[in-house]
Amino acid sequence: MILVIGANGMLGHDLMATLEGDVRGVDLPEIDITDLVSVRKILLTLKPKVIINSAAYTDVDGCESNAERAMTVNGEGVGLLALTAREIGAKLVQISTDYVFDGKKGAPYLEADPVGPLSIYGESKLAGELNAAMAPEHLIVRTQWLYGIHGKNFVETMIKLSGEKSELAIVDDQIGSPTFTRDLALVIKALVEKGGSGIYHAANSGFCSWNEFAKAIFAETGANVTVNSMTTKELNRPANRPLYSILDCSRLERDSGLKMRDWQDALREYLSLRK
Ligand SMILES: NC(=O)c1ccc[n+]([C@@H]2O[C@H](COP(=O)([O-])OP(=O)(O)OC[C@H]3O[C@@H](n4cnc5c(N)ncnc54)[C@H](OP(=O)(O)O)[C@@H]3O)[C@@H](O)[C@H]2O)c1
Repeated sequence: MILVIGANGMLGHDLMATLEGDVRGVDLPEIDITDLVSVRKILLTLKPKVIINSAAYTDVDGCESNAERAMTVNGEGVGLLALTAREIGAKLVQISTDYVFDGKKGAPYLEADPVGPLSIYGESKLAGELNAAMAPEHLIVRTQWLYGIHGKNFVETMIKLSGEKSELAIVDDQIGSPTFTRDLALVIKALVEKGGSGIYHAANSGFCSWNEFAKAIFAETGANVTVNSMTTKELNRPANRPLYSILDCSRLERDSGLKMRDWQDALREYLSLRK
């Protein structure tokens, strides 16, 4: 059996829709990954062969004022999953993030590149990676800039704002790859089927700034919004974010033959599906 933890989340929903065969999904309150009793109760009862952990505290700015919760959920919780995975002989698949990097490399990040998180969220997700590696069999999939049908995301925020405003200022100095959770779910499924282990980077191909992403959303939806530029410094959010965090996905391509499609194609499909 494959067990998806965080099954009600944005990626979790798409994992549940994509995985085939004997698949179970759990989320709060049925399981709380920060509670060993809860984790052991579910895992020892269901005895999955593969545990995909998509559960996380994902409010990047919220993590700055709630560091303890961030570390407990994103770091220690993964440790409890890893220990219990070891006990039942399950493989642990952990979803991680480009925010483990500092964004200063100036070229796409390889799996083995040095990490250097700039935020509490990034630190807590890095702790989750290190803890996931305690499971004898583990797979860590780093991804970025997710959007999907079943979650709050940048695309939905832009569409909502386009109904309220005719002019917006969006940061133009953070570069990454917007990634559709459906596409990511397909890659995770393939990696699980192929027995992938260690760290993999997985994101839609190509890259853009948030500003260019917003312009692409409005071009596709036909919204008449002027998109002005602003800097990350001007936006002044609580959490620091890497300015350039493109993930080099060539290991994924080499080992699995999978190349994720261009982010523009994925965005088009997302927009057609959400209608
Ligand atoms: N979103 C992005 O742009 C992005 C980018 C890179 C990587 N990631 C990673 O990708 C994964 C999926 O992200 P997502 O955006 O799909 O997340 P999401 O929509 O926030 O879903 C996370 C799920 O985990 C649940 N959860 C939170 N704390 C839990 C706990 N203690 N025990 C069990 N379940 C708990 C949440 O429940 P509640 O809603 O009730 O709290 C929610 O259903 C995460 O590991 C995230 O760090 C996300």
